Amino acid sequence: MTQAMERPVLVRAGDPARRDDAYRRVAVVGSTGSIGTQTLDVVRSAPDRFGVSALGAARSVDLLAAQANEFHPEVVAIADSSLAPRLSELLPAGVELRAGPDALCSLVETAEVVLNAVVGFAGLGVTVAALSHGRRLALANKESLVAVAPVVQRVRYLDGAELLPVDSEHGAIHQCLGRGAKEAVSRLVLTASGGPFRGRAAADLASVTVADALAHPTWQMGPKITVDSSTLMNKGLEVIEARELFGIDYDHIEVVVHPQSIVHSMVEFRDGTTIAQPSAPDMRLPIGYALGYPDRLLQPYGTLDFGALGCLEFEPPDLATFPCLGLAYEAGRAGGSAPAWLNAANEVAVAAFLDGRLSWPAIAEVVAETLAAHESAELVTVDDVLAADALARVRAESIVQRRQRSA
Ligand SMILES: NC(=O)c1ccc[n+]([C@@H]2O[C@H](COP(=O)([O-])OP(=O)(O)OC[C@H]3O[C@@H](n4cnc5c(N)ncnc54)[C@H](OP(=O)(O)O)[C@@H]3O)[C@@H](O)[C@H]2O)c1
Repeated sequence: MTQAMERPVLVRAGDPARRDDAYRRVAVVGSTGSIGTQTLDVVRSAPDRFGVSALGAARSVDLLAAQANEFHPEVVAIADSSLAPRLSELLPAGVELRAGPDALCSLVETAEVVLNAVVGFAGLGVTVAALSHGRRLALANKESLVAVAPVVQRVRYLDGAELLPVDSEHGAIHQCLGRGAKEAVSRLVLTASGGPFRGRAAADLASVTVADALAHPTWQMGPKITVDSSTLMNKGLEVIEARELFGIDYDHIEVVVHPQSIVHSMVEFRDGTTIAQPSAPDMRLPIGYALGYPDRLLQPYGTLDFGALGCLEFEPPDLATFPCLGLAYEAGRAGGSAPAWLNAANEVAVAAFLDGRLSWPAIAEVVAETLAAHESAELVTVDDVLAADALARVRAESIVQRRQRSA
């Protein structure tokens, strides 16, 4: 999705001549992944507006060191502490090194904006830490919001705390909502590309391979979210994310498949008006929006030639072939610990699929069976969430192993 571009400049909406004075230090956690590297691209392009205060990742020592040598952050953190000695040799002088899973959470103190681009439930600590420390959280890591929503809802309104979505769909909804009152909204419409298996019948998907599932037609992303896109679980997680971000109930959140990925989502208001947000499918756009809000990047990441776009298609999702979307609605409506169970079961099943231990259709089956065994618990603290997640993972893993034995 990256393309040649001029250097973007930020201006406040409505006043193109006015440069904003506020310089923002950004902690990029998960800096070595797809979202992390695109975030650094945005920062690189607007050095007058953004700087990198901290970088963090799990294991990618060489890339992390290269990023530190380019951006000279105050702190670099690596979750896998066994790799710290090697990373330490590669870091430039004056950069502090922290190691271990908690080290990533400590990065939030260095920044005005925390970009959480960690993949999966592992991003939970950073989400909670950023908001608890009164920082702007630019959130790509939807899994943490899905799992820990009851805790997030309490800390997101602390002094200084601000939650801005990085997902292109939620960034689109944020823009379409503008300052409109929630009461004026009749529905949110999340668009989905449909993934690589759009239009295929269930019987046809029994033997798809990991390579097939990773061949996304429009987006270049990390493997976990790409598999989630192929099952429509990604859209399911996004439905829950939309509920938590915008406070609109599930009966008023719809999904429509839009294979061109040009309209990133829409809001329909009660007077019948629909506002949509079309733009090129480039994640640097919603990333820049979340970093700079309420300012905008003046230079676009790709423009649309409406005359050349041709036909934009919209169709309902196939819930029978892609049951994960329905499972996500079910878990979201159940509330409490059900979304955490959904997320944990999905992470276990996707990891097993990527390891070649589970077939693609079995991802949804493992999630459904795990959810059927859901033991409801009230989630008040992060420890409650960790306990629910751990229990769901044990259940899901035992289902995966039973299936492997009987295969
Ligand atoms: N990619 C997209 O276009 C896109 C769009 C919307 C939303 N998102 C969301 O953004 C998040 C990141 O996705 P991605 O596609 O960028 O993933 P990715 O390319 O797989 O990158 C994941 C990042 O997380 C780090 N990480 C992995 N396991 C970790 C752990 N246990 N502790 C700490 N850090 C860990 C990785 O570090 P190492 O490199 O060291 O392993 C890497 O920096 C996901 O929640 C995804 O749903 C992505």
